[in-house]
Amino acid sequence: MELLSVSGLLVVACVLYFVMQLFRFIKADADLTLLWAERFGFSPESKLPGNVVWVTGASSGIGEELCHQLARMGSRLALSSRRKDELQRVKQKCLEISNLEDKDVLIVPLDLIDASTHQAATESVLKHFGQIDILINNGGRSQRSLFVETELEVYRALIEVNYLGTASLTKHVLQHMIDRKKGKIISVSSITGFIGVPLSSGYAASKHALQGFLNSIRTELASYPDITISIVCPGPVQSKVVENAFTEKVCENHTTKADQSYKMPTKRCARLILVTIANNLLETWISDQPYLVIFYLWQYMPTWAWWLTARVGARRIQNFKSGLDADSSYLKKTK
Ligand SMILES: NC(=O)c1ccc[n+]([C@@H]2O[C@H](COP(=O)([O-])OP(=O)(O)OC[C@H]3O[C@@H](n4cnc5c(N)ncnc54)[C@H](OP(=O)(O)O)[C@@H]3O)[C@@H](O)[C@H]2O)c1
Repeated sequence: MELLSVSGLLVVACVLYFVMQLFRFIKADADLTLLWAERFGFSPESKLPGNVVWVTGASSGIGEELCHQLARMGSRLALSSRRKDELQRVKQKCLEISNLEDKDVLIVPLDLIDASTHQAATESVLKHFGQIDILINNGGRSQRSLFVETELEVYRALIEVNYLGTASLTKHVLQHMIDRKKGKIISVSSITGFIGVPLSSGYAASKHALQGFLNSIRTELASYPDITISIVCPGPVQSKVVENAFTEKVCENHTTKADQSYKMPTKRCARLILVTIANNLLETWISDQPYLVIFYLWQYMPTWAWWLTARVGARRIQNFKSGLDADSSYLKKTK
């Protein structure tokens, strides 16, 4: 009888635990490990002030917001992207909202595609600050076009920006971190870094390449416990990523106005990236529902994931062909 009541209690405890986890998951906007770290782990404010952080893609969207948050908490910054005037604007804002001085924010214009300039760029950051504690590989471009209608040059450009450009910069900075035996390299991949997405086959390929590369170099650095290689995979986030996406031709821009209403606010995404960095997490998923479910399905139940993606994918293509934002209408229905 006593045994029965103990086992009964255990069952009730398990059911309660399961219901709590389910509730957490329904409300979650990131993988549960990251949310746990946000609640109980190190805060960015306790780990990042004073660090020298180099952010690529700093002129817009997620990169710009990362710079604002890092500036507020007192990190010294190197800002990179192609557009110098936009970097100047971001620097000005960083100085306005923080106690940083002019010398604490360095502008390093850089094209990820032009790997021949990356060594000089790295040297200029090192000359100015004497060290690089954290590299955030955030610069990148997406894609909105069907494979059969897209010229191969677009695929080459996506690989060069999102994968090779990032690998090149990582190589130069990593050498410095190996010499110091410490440092953190965080790369912003995407949900497409490990799932297949219609209209973004070249983008997905470049982010898959990036993740394979980063997971492999992490294993090569196993004897450097104080060097961390992290991958962040966001779902849809408010930014200019859709407007700046490649289309069928390499020199054409996407013309459809992006619907921002269903996307995660940029501030929240940047905050969760900083929590990832502060806690040395190796891979994190940052996304509202229903995208977060898709991450988990692809990881743990790929057959169901294929079934679902085929249905959602057909709607995406239909929207795209009608000149709408690929995702907006079906997501509004699910909200
Ligand atoms: N927003 C999302 O929904 C989402 C989801 C998953 C992953 N991501 C990833 O998040 C990262 C940031 O994107 P975002 O959403 O903030 O988009 P965004 O607003 O378009 O910002 C992209 C940034 O990358 C820079 N960039 C583009 N091409 C470059 C090049 N050839 N060389 C150097 N910098 C370059 C841009 O600056 P310049 O134009 O000045 O060069 C800009 O600062 C990207 O890696 C993207 O793939 C975004």
